[in-house]
Amino acid sequence: MQPWIRLTRSAITLVIAFSFITTLLVQPSRTFNAAAASRDPVRARRGMVASTSRIASQVGVDVMKRGGNAIDAAIAVAFALAVTYPAAGNLGGGGFMMIRMRNGKTVAIDYREMAPAAAHRNVYLDKDGNLLKGEGSSTVGYRASGVPGTVAGMELALKSYGSGKLTWSQLVEPARRLAAEGFPMGNILVRSLRGNDYLSRYPETRRIFLRNGNFYNDGELFRQPELAATFARLQRSGPKEFYQGLTARLIVEDMKRHNGLITMEDMGAYVAKEREPLRGSYRGYEILSMPPPSSGGAVLLEMLNILEGYDLAKYDSASSDRYHLTVEAMRRAFADRAEYMGDADFVKVPVTGLIDKAYADNLRKTIRPDRASTSVEVTAGRPTGYESEETTHFTVVDAQGNAVANTYTLNDSFGSGVVAKGTGIVMNNEMDDFAAKPGTANLYGLIQGERNAVAPRKRPLSAMTPTFVLRKDGSLWFTTGTPGGPTIINTVLQVITNVIDYNMNIQQAIDAPRIHHQWLPDEVAWEPYGLSGDTQQALTNRQHKLVTRPRYMGDAQGIMIEEKTGVRLGATDPRRSDGLAVGY
Ligand code: DON
Repeated sequence: MQPWIRLTRSAITLVIAFSFITTLLVQPSRTFNAAAASRDPVRARRGMVASTSRIASQVGVDVMKRGGNAIDAAIAVAFALAVTYPAAGNLGGGGFMMIRMRNGKTVAIDYREMAPAAAHRNVYLDKDGNLLKGEGSSTVGYRASGVPGTVAGMELALKSYGSGKLTWSQLVEPARRLAAEGFPMGNILVRSLRGNDYLSRYPETRRIFLRNGNFYNDGELFRQPELAATFARLQRSGPKEFYQGLTARLIVEDMKRHNGLITMEDMGAYVAKEREPLRGSYRGYEILSMPPPSSGGAVLLEMLNILEGYDLAKYDSASSDRYHLTVEAMRRAFADRAEYMGDADFVKVPVTGLIDKAYADNLRKTIRPDRASTSVEVTAGRPTGYESEETTHFTVVDAQGNAVANTYTLNDSFGSGVVAKGTGIVMNNEMDDFAAKPGTANLYGLIQGERNAVAPRKRPLSAMTPTFVLRKDGSLWFTTGTPGGPTIINTVLQVITNVIDYNMNIQQAIDAPRIHHQWLPDEVAWEPYGLSGDTQQALTNRQHKLVTRPRYMGDAQGIMIEEKTGVRLGATDPRRSDGLAVGY
């Protein structure tokens, strides 16, 4: 044997032996699954934006390079997404923005849609008390929309937390330009247009999103002149234009022509609100997330509290043991969601009890290690103190350390399917997030209760969960969130436990396969290729009912701050190909 071959061989043997020993001694083997499949996060020293649209991420970075802070950047990204990702990015919808300033002050901006005054408990029921279907229902057409909150939300965020270095008009400008000049259509946008049945139903929508009745193809330039004109009006006259000016009138006139619910009074009465974030902890790390009218923060914290009582790290990240316990936590927290949650401005929501650690201790006692519970036996607990498909998440961290986690939506893909004539604005179908008929499933199969019944000016319950996780010294560790209807909360849960229990970096934590259980229907959904046959069998043996999802779950975005260097690590979900983390 040639000496160099012998040398190489011994070197290889040494390397293998060394990595084997370090594996045993230093690194738990559980981290390997994800690492094998994940690219490195994007690294940047100053600012970072992670969003589902690479064009929008770049818009945010450009704002920070011009001296804007993370909040300024987030506003520009939100407007840009309304152009480049019209299935969910919006002016005609609403959402939640979590803001953490560099000094640690953390707030939640609630710009969720509000029900029009004419909406009432039975507005989506026929005379026999059955849920209406099609036009007139909570899911499609002119009556499905709540009053949009996005413009008011961005205004509030800018006034209270913007750097003051860039004006409203400057932050709207990139979106106006993208709408006026157009941008090359990516495959995700083209696919979302091809996959949406409602789009050809409404002439204005068809005119804008189809090219003379035909589908667009990848790479074609897509211009939205009416939307550009709406942005230009917002630049000239400020955010109130949307609620009191020509834009409001155009929306309301179109509503009137088609028996919609929204009036000028409703538009004028819209208010975005600053709320206190929910605070909890998981294994000593503080978690800050969205309070009602989102269920996200409370359900997330309830599940984390239940899971904290188990040493999850001793199980493999993709093991049936981990999944079993996770599903049982999901089942219990979603049962509570159905019973207890709604807009806390209207109904009593026992949030403090739901996120109490002692309450989780009691729930944990009902979990058997060897067998699934059934959702029939698991009804809501008794917390103390009680008396498609499209949404999008993005996140920004700036050079100073201010951070934003923002999830906003039209609810379904392209919302109600309606574009308000003359505005280019796609309208939401957020009214379906109410329990249109309490006890009956909504678009996402979610059963919800009386507390989430429709009422005038009320906000529908949401699952959106923009979240910050802090290090034990109180500094920001990472931020994350995702779309996905009820799967949102479970995706955020799994990203957090992937990082904390399984030492994954932010990209690995986002890439790893996900599961979902929402109490009812009583089934564990899993992603294509997400569970090995052995794991499926082990879960079935414990009497879990498994269903494969035809599609992947969520589109998470995240930014983590590297502890020693402060470098921002950006990660987008590989489940959507157009996303990109961009930093500088
Ligand atoms: O607020 C909510 O919970 C829903 N409207 C979110 C919808 C959603 O995430 C759809 N996306 N995939």
